[in-house]
Amino acid sequence: MIKKYPPLFDKAPVMLHGADYNPEQWLRYPEILEEDIRLMKKSHCNVMSVGIFSWVSLEPEEGVFTFEWLDQILDSFAQNGIYALLATPSGARPAWMSQKYPEVLRVSSNRVRNLHGFRHNHCYSSPVYREKVTIINTKLAERYANHPAVIGWHISNELSGDCHCDYCQDAFREWVKNKYVTLDELNHSWWTTFWSHTYTDFSQIESPAPHGETQVHAMNLDWKRFVTDRTLDFLKHEIAPLQKVNSNLPVTTNFMSYFDGLDYWKFADVLDVLSWDSYPTWHDMDDNDDSKQAASVALMHDIVRSIKGGKPFMLMESTPSMTNWQDVSKLKKPGMHLLSSLQAVAHGSDTVQYFQWRKSRGSSEKLHGAVVDHVGNEHTRVFEEVTEVGSALMELGDVVGTVVPAEVAIIFDWENRWAVTDSQGPRNVGIKYDETIQAHYKVFWDKGIPVDMINMDADFTKYKLVIAPMLYMVKSGVGERIEKYVQEGGTLVTTYWSGIVNENDLCYLGGFPGPLRKTLGIWSEEIDGLHDGQVNRIEALGDNPLGLSGAFEAVELCDLIHLEGAEALALYGSDFYKGRPAVTVHTFGEGKSYYIASRNKEPFHEAFYNGVIHETGLKQSIQGVFPRGVTAHVRTDGQHDYVFVQNYTGEEQVLHLGDGTYTEIGLPSVDSSQEIIEQVVLEPHSVRILKRNHRL
Ligand code: GLA
Ligand code: ZN
Repeated sequence: MIKKYPPLFDKAPVMLHGADYNPEQWLRYPEILEEDIRLMKKSHCNVMSVGIFSWVSLEPEEGVFTFEWLDQILDSFAQNGIYALLATPSGARPAWMSQKYPEVLRVSSNRVRNLHGFRHNHCYSSPVYREKVTIINTKLAERYANHPAVIGWHISNELSGDCHCDYCQDAFREWVKNKYVTLDELNHSWWTTFWSHTYTDFSQIESPAPHGETQVHAMNLDWKRFVTDRTLDFLKHEIAPLQKVNSNLPVTTNFMSYFDGLDYWKFADVLDVLSWDSYPTWHDMDDNDDSKQAASVALMHDIVRSIKGGKPFMLMESTPSMTNWQDVSKLKKPGMHLLSSLQAVAHGSDTVQYFQWRKSRGSSEKLHGAVVDHVGNEHTRVFEEVTEVGSALMELGDVVGTVVPAEVAIIFDWENRWAVTDSQGPRNVGIKYDETIQAHYKVFWDKGIPVDMINMDADFTKYKLVIAPMLYMVKSGVGERIEKYVQEGGTLVTTYWSGIVNENDLCYLGGFPGPLRKTLGIWSEEIDGLHDGQVNRIEALGDNPLGLSGAFEAVELCDLIHLEGAEALALYGSDFYKGRPAVTVHTFGEGKSYYIASRNKEPFHEAFYNGVIHETGLKQSIQGVFPRGVTAHVRTDGQHDYVFVQNYTGEEQVLHLGDGTYTEIGLPSVDSSQEIIEQVVLEPHSVRILKRNHRL
C-alpha cells in the first residue's frame, strides 16, 4: 500500500540541507561565526548538526558547565531560520575525565587499556561514563529540548567498536547466562567439546582475544551479538534523559557504510529516524563509468531505508568535495555533487547533509572537504555546487515523505554475514558476501527496479521476489517461513553456500541446504573452491522454462548438487562435475524457487534475472533499455511518481521516455521550459527529475 510518511521532524516539514557545524572551534573568531550565518543562508542550508564533539567546551571541568556559546549559536539559528540537530557529546571525552576515571577508557581485545586520545573509544559499560553521559545529556535536554531551533537529537557519532574491560566481560557472561541458562546448553550450542574447550563454570568465559579464544565460531558470533546489544543498551541510556524532558523530539544516530561491527537491523525500534554517512570514492575507475560505485551506494541507501520498513531517512554526512582519509582523495567532477546528493533523495532520503560546514584550521580533518574552505568565502566551485543542491531541494517539497515502491527484496543479514565470513571453508581468501549481494543488486539498479533490503527475520509476503544470496546461516523458523512464502506463490532465488548452519553456526545434519532443501528440491553434496583465475562454465539447456541461453563463466565457488524435484536450467561445462546441474528451478506449491549453484559473473546475472523479472512481472522505473551507466529511480505518493534520472558516465546520454506523460521539475542548471518531454538529454554526471501520474 502506498502511503506518504509525515516529515521526519515535525518542526521542519521540508527537505533538509546542511552540515556538521563546529562553532566551538571558532569562538576566538567572532567574525567567522557571523559570516557562517550569512553563508549558510546563501547556500540554502537550513539545518546544522551541532555539538557532536563538544564535551570539553560544554563541561571544561567536572561539574562546571559553559553553555553560553551554544545559547548564542542556537538563538542565532532561530533568528535566521536555521534548524539544529543537537548532538550529545559522548563521541569524544574531555581529558579530565580520562585522567580522573581511567575506567571510561576502552580496553582492546589484547586486554590493553587505551590511553586518552582520538575519539569513539569509551567503554559502553563503565558506570562512571554512563553517569557522566546522563548528567551532560540531562543538562542539554533541560536547556535546549524546547529551543525553537532544535528539531531533533543526534546521538553521539558513528557508534562502533567493542571493549574488553572487566565490566564488559561481566556483562558478556551475564548475557550468555541469560541466553543459555545452563552450561550444558551453552556447551552444546557452542560445540565446545571440540579441542577440549568445554566450560565448567560461567566465570571461565572470556571475550575473543588474539592471544586467547578465536576458534569457537558460535562464541565469536555471540560476542558480536553482545556488542550490538551493549551498544543499543548504551544508546538507550543516552536517549532516556533526553526523552524525559521532551519525548516529542526525534532521535537519530549516524550509521556507517557497510559497517560490519553492529547489526543495524536491531536499531529499528530504538531510533525514531535513521541516518548514515556516505563517502564513496567517485571516479576511481578509468572507464568513465561510476555505475558500480553508484549501485553500491544505492544499496546502502536501500538498507537504511528498509530498516525502518521504508520510512524516509537522512543522509547525515557526505563530503561536498573530497575526503582526506581515503587512499586517494579525488575531487568530484562538475555535476557529481548534485547527482550523488539527489541519488540519496531518489532512494528515500529526505535530507542532504555534509561533513563539514567549514574546514577546521588544525588537526586531522583540516584538509577534509567542507562547504566553506579556508579561503572563507562563497566564491568557490564547491560552494556553488552546494548552493545548487540547496536550490534543488527547495523544489522538492512534495517529495518529502514519499516512498520507494519495492516489490523485490534482497536478504542482507548481519548475523549471516558475520557467520559466513568467519566460517573457514571453501574460499578463505575471500568469501565475498558483500560483493555477492552487490552483484545481484546491481542488475535491478541498472534497470531502475526498486529493491528493499531485508534481513531473514523480515516479512517476505509483501514481495513478488525474494533473493537470498549465500544464505549460509538459516536461523530457526526461517526455512519454514521461506517454504510457506514459496508455497503460497512467492518466488525465491538463492545460491550456493546456503542452508549450511543454524543460528549457532552448527552445521545442519541430514543434507544441505538444510531447511531449504525441500523448497529448493535439491541436495548439495559438496562444494568446490576454485583458485583465482580458474574458471568453469555453465551451459543453458535448450528450451528451458526461463529462456536462459548460451554459456557463462563460473568462478570461485561451484556447488555439486543433485536434483530432488527441481529441474535443471543449466549444467556445468567442465571438470569432473561436467554435466551436473548448475542452475535449477523448483515449482513448489503456487511458487517457484531458483538455485544458482556457482558464483557467476555479470552476464549471467543479467540473463538470469531478465527471465525472473519477466516471469514475476516486476516493473522498471521507465520502460525500455537504459544506456550503460544511466538509471532512474522512483519515489511516489501514490498519485505522482518522481523519477530521478541519473547519468553516472562522463558522457552525454539520451534517454527516451516512451511510456507516459512526463513534466520536469526545475533544477537550477536545467532548462525546464518545455512542458511535456519525450526524451531527456543528460549532461555528463547529471540528474534530472521528472514527474508523472503514478503508474500502477
Ligand atoms: C565520519 C565522521 C565525521 C568525520 C567524517 C570524515 O563520517 O562521523 O566526524 O570524521 O567521517 O569523512
Ligand atoms: Zn568496557
